[in-house]
Amino acid sequence: MPGDFSTVPIVDFSRLTDPTSRDEELSRLRDAIFVVGFLYLINTGLEDSIHRTHKELPSLFNLPAEVKERCNMINSPSFRGTLGWGQRLLRPRPIFARYHVLFLQFDFGTPGMREWTENEPFWKRLEGPNQYPDYPGAEKLVRNYIESIDSLAQKFVHLVAESLSLPPDTFDEFKGSMSRLKFVKYPPAKALSQGVGPHKDSAGLFTFLSQDNIGGLQVLNNNGEWIDAPPLEDSLVVNIQQGFEAITGGICPATTHRVIAPTAKTRYSIPFFLSVRLDLTLEKLQASASHIKARLPVPNTEKRRDVDVPSEFLSPLYSCFGEAHLRNRIISHPDVGKKWYPDLYEKYSQQRL
Ligand SMILES: [Fe+2]
Repeated sequence: MPGDFSTVPIVDFSRLTDPTSRDEELSRLRDAIFVVGFLYLINTGLEDSIHRTHKELPSLFNLPAEVKERCNMINSPSFRGTLGWGQRLLRPRPIFARYHVLFLQFDFGTPGMREWTENEPFWKRLEGPNQYPDYPGAEKLVRNYIESIDSLAQKFVHLVAESLSLPPDTFDEFKGSMSRLKFVKYPPAKALSQGVGPHKDSAGLFTFLSQDNIGGLQVLNNNGEWIDAPPLEDSLVVNIQQGFEAITGGICPATTHRVIAPTAKTRYSIPFFLSVRLDLTLEKLQASASHIKARLPVPNTEKRRDVDVPSEFLSPLYSCFGEAHLRNRIISHPDVGKKWYPDLYEKYSQQRL
């Protein structure tokens, strides 16, 4: 059966834009997204931008500690900035238990976001300005990368709709205003160390991940088995996020994935998280997404769900996607959560999904 795959399918973006190969490739895209749940996207036209950005990462991560400290995430109620060594992530779920972060990251959002004001909903504070490191060209590097990959992501979402024989703009009403970009470094660690534990990406619709040639990424297939997603030069690994899962009423589950820490060399990766609208509620979604659900193939994900990660976005505990996402950030980064949202931290850390 189609869900029993043991490798990640490859979708060729250039064939999706070529009238002679488009229909065939749209059908591959449809299976990859809705049956398998993740894919490699190749021939995106972003190859130069990806190379340029990866080239700068070692220098950015080698900046003096005080430079990285000045843009520490703890300064940002929008969870932007650097996340350092040894910080503890707490997840109140058995699958996460407690683990130390074995990676260092810079976390940015779509540039141009202004500061939150008190007359706005509390969850809107997730959208805020970036903290750029004091490094020549850092801001331009981030801006250029986000601009090029966001343009690709918008086209990709249109193609996903077309793969279901829906109008290309079907998912446009679900798009958010602030996407996120991370630069991540995984230094070598003891064999089989967990670089980052099993999780689903929570912030939006789809993730577009550029990884270097070190490897370590694994994704969970429909049989509940971990499948390697080894490096494929110039590709982007695309996976489904919880926002898209919610739009499909849970039929199309977000991709559960993890990273095994490298043992000999440092791994760098650049995930881009295409955002979902934060003011969406489950009720509004049910009304507006029923015509989408009717077109979806229904994969057998029973075995995957046994080891899966529950979703804030599908929980009735939260008023809208914005609150669900804020809860996810607060629980994932408890030091930042306690500082900026002490009452919500208390409330959310008691809740089980
Ligand atoms: Fe992830």
